[in-house]
Formats: sequence, structure tokens, C-alpha cells
Amino acid sequence: MLKGKRILLGVSGGIAAYKSVEIVSRLRKQGAEVDVVMTKSATEFVSPLTFRSISARPVYTNMFEEPKSWNIEHISLAEQADLVIVAPATANILAKMALGIADDFLSTVLLAVRVPIYVAPAMNHAMYHHPATQRNLETLRERGISFIGPANGFQACGTEGDGRMCEPIEIVTELTRFFSEKQFLKGQKVLVTAGGTREPLDPVRYIGNFSSGKMGYAVARAFVEAGAAVTLVSAPADLPVPQGVKMIRVITAEDMYREVLSVYQEQDIVVKAAAVADYRPAVFAGQKIKKKGENLTLELTPNPDILLALGQKKEHQFLVGFAAETQHAVENGSEKLRKKNADMLVVNDVTAPGAGFGTDTNIVSFLFPDGSRKDLPQMNKIEVARELVKEIALLKKVK
Ligand code: CTP
Repeated sequence: MLKGKRILLGVSGGIAAYKSVEIVSRLRKQGAEVDVVMTKSATEFVSPLTFRSISARPVYTNMFEEPKSWNIEHISLAEQADLVIVAPATANILAKMALGIADDFLSTVLLAVRVPIYVAPAMNHAMYHHPATQRNLETLRERGISFIGPANGFQACGTEGDGRMCEPIEIVTELTRFFSEKQFLKGQKVLVTAGGTREPLDPVRYIGNFSSGKMGYAVARAFVEAGAAVTLVSAPADLPVPQGVKMIRVITAEDMYREVLSVYQEQDIVVKAAAVADYRPAVFAGQKIKKKGENLTLELTPNPDILLALGQKKEHQFLVGFAAETQHAVENGSEKLRKKNADMLVVNDVTAPGAGFGTDTNIVSFLFPDGSRKDLPQMNKIEVARELVKEIALLKKVK
């Protein structure tokens, strides 16, 4: 099942480290090559020699020892991996991942990795439920890191509760599922835009919109899960960068237009979830505009319509637009789909409860060029995103 796959196993210092030896053994039996990176504490529980013997490869423990090859090792390991699993993942390594701390080999590799990361937490249940740990887990989850467990049951400290590492067989089953089911867009290049553009008025002010970027970031995450190579062109959004995406940050609609157009040719799929300002101030005041106590009229000039331009230049790309509507969502959406020459349009009524800007859920309909449509119930944005990715994969095959 895993032939030709290269898996990087990070082992941090918990008693469950001994079980990770079985993870290596099971992965190898399925045909995977496994590179093991251990923290110093992990080596107190299990000898690197054990992992070296079972993986039949060098084991990495120290940033500064004599290198095993002449590449920069933590970078080349990160680049060669198809998937990363940290098992056991202690509260400490999870905290370091959440903060981006790179103070040993494992945490440094984890910072350089661009492929999906799984973690199998293992710690005492009080440590697991500590607000600091829970917050770190939340940060990692938002970033698109996948969790396996923890399980509930007997703990090495003599208590019972959740925090135990899942059994190796469960972990390996989950990783195998990743390669068999989820990678249906492997090799596809995808561009996603997200966030709300800002159009500067003077050095301290801008015209913006209420877009949080949550929907677009969720779409980028769902494409990474499906194995695609994802570029995320993001207008400002206060969200963690999804694991595994190539991030391009922009501010204005014109910046976004330029960046999107410059990489359009090489894309297979483009999803325009960004809320792009249709207008920008006609003049940018070099100095802060002073109040005068009377009405102020702003002159606005149109921004380029990015989706329209992509639709006009479309060759092989599968093009998906979003439409945020406040009334007649389906009618307005269908008109945009046609006008902008998209292959699919995701429409939502942003005024409906449980939908629209800033919420964690959305209620959308998919509109298609043949006039058909698919209505989805209220769902979390990541679930909407996964449905969207599946739908695109299906239609693209037909196209
Ligand atoms: N869009 C774009 N460039 C713009 C405006 C919109 O690429 N300058 C894209 C959005 O990213 C979205 C789709 O067009 O995928 C629809 O955006 P929306 O704001 O709903 O529609 P508009 O075309 O701007 O129409 P209107 O504001 O009149 O509803």
C-alpha cells in the first residue's frame, strides 16, 4: 500500500516512544521508507539504535553532529517526505510546533515541512486538558495539522483518562488511509485566493470589507489534504497559514490581480474565494486626510475584476468563483457564473444566520454552467471546503 512513499516519523520524549518502534515496523511492511528523527528526551526512553535497526536508515537526533549526507539535513529530510507523523507527540513538542520554535532537530524539521503533518498526542490527562495545551492543539488544528487520538485508558502514571497515544496499528491505518483515499488530487496545481482586500485611502486608512478569510483558508486546507500543490494568494486575514501551502500575501485588489495572473498559466484549478474590492480610492492622499467638519466625498475608481480576467484567458484551467449575496443569491450567482466564464460558482447569502463573513459555518449552493445546482446544508467551513474539493475533482474528470 505504501510502496514508494517516504514517511518522516518524529519521536518525542514520552514513554509511548517504545510503541513507535512498532509503527516503523508496520510502515515498512507496507513498503514505506521511514526516516526517524528523535528528540534528546526520546533517546532516554528508546535507543536510536533500535530505530536504526528497524528502519534500516540513519536516525537523526542532533543538529550539529557529523552529517549523514552532504545536504542540509533538516531541509532535505523535510523536502523528501510525503507525510510526517509525530508519535508520540508530547505536550512540549506540540507547544513548540504551535509557536514555531526550532531549537532541536525535530522542531526544526517540522518548521521546514511543506507536506501534511499528523500528530499522535501522548501525555498525562491533566497535561492534556491544561488550557495551554488545549490552546496549542487548537492552533495546530486550525493550521490543518491532523490528529490521531489521543485515546482514553490506563496511563503510565497510574491514572486513567485521555492522553494515551493511540495503538500503532490505528496510527498506521490512518496514515494508509491518507495515501489511499485522500490523495485524489495528487499532482494537481491549485491556486486559491482568500481574505478581503484593502484599498488605501491615505497612510492610515483603507476601504475594506468584513471577509475573515476563513472560507478560503479552509478551501486551501482541503486541497492540501487531497494531495494538491496549493498556492494561497491571501489578502489580509487573521488566520494561521494552512500547513503545506505556498503563501503569497497581498493587500489590494491590484496586488492580487498581478500575483494571480503571474501564476495562472501553470494552474490546473483556481478557486477565487477572496472578497475583492470592486473599487479603490481614485487618489491616494500622500498625507493623512484632515477632518474639516463638513461632508467629505470620496471618488472611487473600478478595480480590475480578477475572476472575469481569468475567465477570459481560460485555457485548461478549472475555474471556480464565489459569490457573496444579500438577496436573490441563486439568480445573481448564476449571472456571475455566466458572465465570468467560470466552471462552477459557490454562492451564499451572507445575511443568513450560520452563513457568511466571520462565522465558522456556511450555507452554500454550488451552481453549474448547465443551470443545475446543488444545495448544501449548514456545515463547518472545512466541511464545505471538502465537499467543494470533491465536487471539483469529479467535474474536472468529466471536463
Ligand atoms: N472578484 C474578482 N475581482 C473583483 C471582484 C470580484 O475576482 N474585482 C471575484 C470574487 O473573488 C468572487 C467573484 O468574483 O469569486 C464574485 O465576487 P462578488 O463580489 O460576489 O461579485 P462582483 O462581481 O463583485 O459583483 P457585485 O459586487 O456587483 O455583486
